[in-house]
Parts: sequence; C-alpha cells; structure tokens
Amino acid sequence: MIVNINWKAPVVNSALLSLLGMTLLVNPISTYANEQAETTQSATQIMKFDPRNEKFEPDHPEQYQSWKNTSKSEHITDALQSDPNMVILWAGYGFAKDYNAPRGHFYAVTDVRNTLRTGGPKDAKSGPMPMACWSCKSPDVPRVIDERGEDGYFDGKWSRLGSQIINPIGCADCHDTQSDDFKDGKPALRVARPFASRAMHAIDRDFDKQDRFGQQSQVCGQCHVEYYFQKDKKNAVKFPWDKGVDVDSIEKYYDEIGFSDWINPLSKAPMLKAQHPEYETWQMGIHGKNNVACVDCHMPKVKNKQGKVYTDHKVGNPFDRFEDTCAQCHTQDKQSMMDIVKSRKDKVQEMKLIAEKQLVAAHFEAKAAWEAGATEAEMKDILMDIRHAQWRWDYAIASHGVHMHAPEVALRVLGTSVDRATDARTKLIRVLAKHGITDPIQIPDISTKEKAQAALGMDMKGMNQEKDDFLKNVIPEWDKEADIREATYPQ
Ligand code: HEC
Ligand code: HEC
Ligand code: HEC
Ligand code: HEC
Repeated sequence: MIVNINWKAPVVNSALLSLLGMTLLVNPISTYANEQAETTQSATQIMKFDPRNEKFEPDHPEQYQSWKNTSKSEHITDALQSDPNMVILWAGYGFAKDYNAPRGHFYAVTDVRNTLRTGGPKDAKSGPMPMACWSCKSPDVPRVIDERGEDGYFDGKWSRLGSQIINPIGCADCHDTQSDDFKDGKPALRVARPFASRAMHAIDRDFDKQDRFGQQSQVCGQCHVEYYFQKDKKNAVKFPWDKGVDVDSIEKYYDEIGFSDWINPLSKAPMLKAQHPEYETWQMGIHGKNNVACVDCHMPKVKNKQGKVYTDHKVGNPFDRFEDTCAQCHTQDKQSMMDIVKSRKDKVQEMKLIAEKQLVAAHFEAKAAWEAGATEAEMKDILMDIRHAQWRWDYAIASHGVHMHAPEVALRVLGTSVDRATDARTKLIRVLAKHGITDPIQIPDISTKEKAQAALGMDMKGMNQEKDDFLKNVIPEWDKEADIREATYPQ
C-alpha cells in the first residue's frame, strides 16, 4: 500500500492550524456537576447543551449547511428483507420486528420514532423500550441529563420523555457550543455523554488526555460503540469495556456478570445483542492503529469558494468525496480502492452467511431437543455455545463498515462464531439421538422476511397498526410540547 510519508500533513496543514488556533487541545471535557439536580434550571444552565442545531447557522453557515446535508442520505435499506435469517437469530427480540441499515444523522430521531422496535406507546408508562433507547440520537439527551441527572434521564419507558428528545444528532453532541473558542470558529470538541466519558476512562483513554486525532474519534465513539442497559440501574447505559474492547474480553465481561439481553424462544439460549462496535473495531484495524481518525475519512477538510478551509460536516460515505478523503494519504485511484474495499465486503458477507446458516440450524435443533425431552443439564453447554456463536457473529456484522475499518478482525471473529456454532451442533446431535431423534431437523421456509416472521407467529399487522396510531396521535403532541418549551429558550 502506498501512503504519503507525510500522511498527516494534508490534514493538519498550516492554513488549518491558523484557522483553528493552536489551543484547541486544551478544552477540558465538560463537567457534570449538575448531574443530581432534579428539576428545572435557569435558561443559561440549560443552554450548556443547546440542542437547536439551526441556532448555530448564523455563526457557522458552512458547518451548519454541510451538517444539514446528512439529510441527503435518506434511502432506507431494510436489512431483514435482504437477509431474513436475522429474523430467526433475533427471534423474541425487537430486531426481529424491524431493522434498517443506518442512514444520515439528520434522521436519527425520525428513525427511532418510526421503527417497530419502539412500538406504539399510548402513554408515558407503556411500550417495549426503556429511555436508554434515545441515548445516541440527539443533543437533547445530554441536555436532559444535565437538567435531571442520569437517574432522572434513564428512569422509565422510552415514551416518558418523548416530548423532550426532539433534535437530531447535532452541534452540542460534539462541541462545547457555549465556549468562546467555538464562537470563534474553533472546534472545542467534547464528549457530551457522561456514560461515554466513564467508559473512555475505563480503557485509559480519558478525553482530555487524548491528542487531537484521539479526540476527533471519541466524539464519534460516544455513540458508535457496543453498550448495554444495566437492568439493576434503571436501564442506564454502560459500555462493557472493563476487560477490554475486543470480542473475547466483552464476552467474558457479559458472562461474568450473567448479563443477557433476551432469551431466544426457539433455543431458549440467553442471548447477547451487539449494538454497533465501530469505535472498538476501528481501533484494531490498520487505520485506527495508525491514528487515522474517523473524521479523516468521514468529515474531511474542504475549502469554500474563498479558499477558506472548513470541516465538511456531511458525515457519510468517504468514497463520495474520494479526493478529500482517501486521496489525501493514498496515491491509488478511486476505482482500485473501491475494488479492494468491495472484495473485502464480499468476503465478510460470505462468512456472515456461513455463520448464519449454522446458527439458524442450531436454534431449531435446540428447539427440537427441548421438545424431545432434553434436560436443562444436557442443554446448558449447548446454549452457551449458541450464545457465544451469535454474539461473535453480531459483533462482526453490527460493526457497520467493518470490511473497511478492520476486515481481518471481522473475518477472525466470524470464524470463531462458526467454531462455537459447530460445537453446539455436534453436541445437539448427541442429545437428539439420546432422545430418539436421528433424522435431520426440518427448518421452516424462512426465505423472506415475511415468511420468517410468520414462522415465528409474529403479529406484524397488529404492530404496524399500533405504530401508525402512535405516529398519528402521539408524535404531534410531543412536537407541540417541544415547540412550547423551545420558545422559552434564550434566542
Ligand atoms: C458528530 C460530531 C459533530 C457534529 C454533530 C458537529 N460537529 Fe462541528 N466538528 C466536528 C469535528 C470532528 C470537527 C473538526 C475537529 C478538528 O479539526 O479537530 C468540527 C469542526 C467544527 C468547527 C471548527 C471549524 C471547522 O470547520 O473545522 C465548527 C465551527 C463547527 N464544527 C461547527 C459545528 C456546528 C455549527 C454544528 C451543528 C450544526 C456541528 N459543528 C456539528 C464534529 C462535529
Ligand atoms: C449522538 C450519537 C452519534 C454521534 C456523536 C455520531 N453518530 Fe454516526 N450515527 C448515529 C446514529 C444513531 C446513526 C444512524 C441514524 C439513522 O439511521 O437514523 C448514525 C449514522 C452514521 C453513519 C451512516 C451515515 C449514512 O448516511 O449512511 C456514519 C457513516 C456515521 N454515523 C459516522 C459517524 C462519525 C464518523 C461520527 C463522528 C464524527 C459520528 N457518526 C458521530 C449516532 C451518532
Ligand atoms: C480510513 C478511512 C476510514 C476511517 C478512519 C473510518 N471509516 Fe468509517 N467507513 C469508511 C468507508 C470507506 C466506509 C464505507 C465502506 C463501503 O463503501 O462499503 C465506512 C463505513 C462506515 C459506517 C457504515 C455506514 C453505512 O451506511 O453502513 C459507519 C457507521 C462508519 N464508517 C463509522 C466510522 C467511525 C465511527 C469511525 C471511527 C471510529 C470510522 N468510521 C473510521 C472509511 C473510514
Ligand atoms: C489520514 C491518512 C489516511 C487516510 C485519509 C486514509 N488512509 Fe488508508 N492508510 C493510511 C495509513 C497510515 C495506512 C497504513 C500504511 C502501512 O502500514 O503501510 C493505510 C493503509 C491502507 C490500506 C492497506 C492496509 C490494508 O488494510 O490492507 C488500505 C487498503 C487503505 N489504507 C485504504 C484506504 C481507503 C479506502 C481510504 C479512504 C476511505 C483511506 N485508506 C484513507 C492512511 C490513510
């Protein structure tokens, strides 16, 4: 691979340094002294996290406009439709209802409102999901945490503070928007979420001890990570990094605390759902190891018409802006770079499907074993194998862009997934035989999302109806309440 020896140079050129000033590393992470405060605070304190993105347009028109352009990534890809195996793997869990590939940051709040996973709550106490589900969607999240403390934010159902979480991922998520530096056009980056700051501390990467590139990646890493909801702590978010960020360490962490997200009703295995460990897998890949930040590829420096350098805030696919991203460091042409990434994507995809084939079979075979009279003792190890196999599969594939960020990590993790699934199936053959079953277990037709959901007896019509009612009746109320609140904010 040919890399400019001076590869950081284009990113930190002198024009930029003078633009940003040399002091930008000294912005300490914001404090959370008000965490425990229960009720409303004065307007100035609230505006420590001003959630209104449009408020910053007059001072920073280029950053605002390019941020707003994330709305151009509007296409919805139904991931279950393109791979119905996942309905079976996630049986009994929200992701079997509905799961789309990520799109522009602009849609974060819209999409979490629209997904069937959040259901159709009718009041503050109903619905399937906890408050924690808002946590990576909006700068209103750090605002509410600042006002009510983490307990006051996390407590209760997702619908409880629906009228509070309104603005999509924006300025206050990544910047200390109150600081003079920011007003002067310097980045003044921050990690706005206290649970993310604690996690960075746990892996010895405190934000204020990071160099500029480390900080750039951490603003993404406050959301693009693996996390779980602590059931004994009002479902507060924690990143499971106490033992490390690789697949084995996190698996060990979850096993030791006896955590599972849900029980798959087919196999009855205690399952783990990986979220989106991009920050984790990126740091194990060649770019992460070389301190190439998320931003170098996803938010490049560009010039406006007057030749002034600014950061392009349209977080999206780096290949759409090849000259400003990869070509800053690499000399190959766009097509050959895309070919490399495409061939890695295909290989990851191939291994993903191989792992799924084993996992789908293991879930149905375990179901058959229970039905044939298998005992808890006979099934215990098998269920752990299934849990581990699927956790590994999910860690690899939920890590979006992993074929680019760390393809060797993805392939190794998927290889270990197949290994664990094979262990489960080898043991299952014996248990099934012991209970008189020697014929292969039949798997129902799961060739489309609809067929797979029908095979599980899911009431999709009911869920869609409930969602429609919610969008028609509840959402306008939330928006109205939010307008009234925001009208009281300082102008
Ligand atoms: C996902 C995180 C993120 C969001 C959201 C975000 N920014 Fe930024 N912003 C960055 C990063 C990263 C940089 C570059 C930091 C560096 O160069 O070290 C930056 C740089 C800036 C700068 C410094 C000048 C420049 O262009 O490099 C300004 C001003 C700025 N952003 C304004 C905004 C405004 C206004 C919004 C909301 C409309 C916003 N940002 C939203 C991450 C973000
Ligand atoms: C506040 C949480 C949060 C922060 C901070 C954040 N993201 Fe995201 N990101 C999300 C969510 C949520 C989505 C999915 C939005 C959807 O599909 O509705 C997403 C989507 C994306 C996508 C897919 C975009 C597309 O058009 O397909 C990319 C790429 C991405 N983020 C990269 C980054 C990078 C790089 C950073 C740091 C500069 C960053 N994100 C910071 C939460 C965040
Ligand atoms: C060396 C460049 C590079 C770096 C560094 C990088 N990415 Fe990416 N990322 C890409 C490319 C290229 C793609 C799209 C791959 C493709 O086209 O298949 C991508 C894809 C993604 C996606 C999936 C988008 C989608 O719509 O599926 C997310 C999310 C993402 N990156 C987030 C991050 C985060 C967060 C970081 C830092 C922790 C990061 N990236 C670091 C180049 C990079
Ligand atoms: C800020 C500089 C920088 C940017 C931007 C960058 N790279 Fe790299 N890239 C590197 C460095 C450094 C290495 C490691 C080189 C080495 O060890 O020989 C590397 C290595 C690679 C490799 C070879 C390692 C491997 O995985 O086999 C590929 C392929 C690659 N980059 C693709 C890309 C693509 C595609 C993009 C744009 C999406 C991109 N890079 C953006 C700096 C960068």
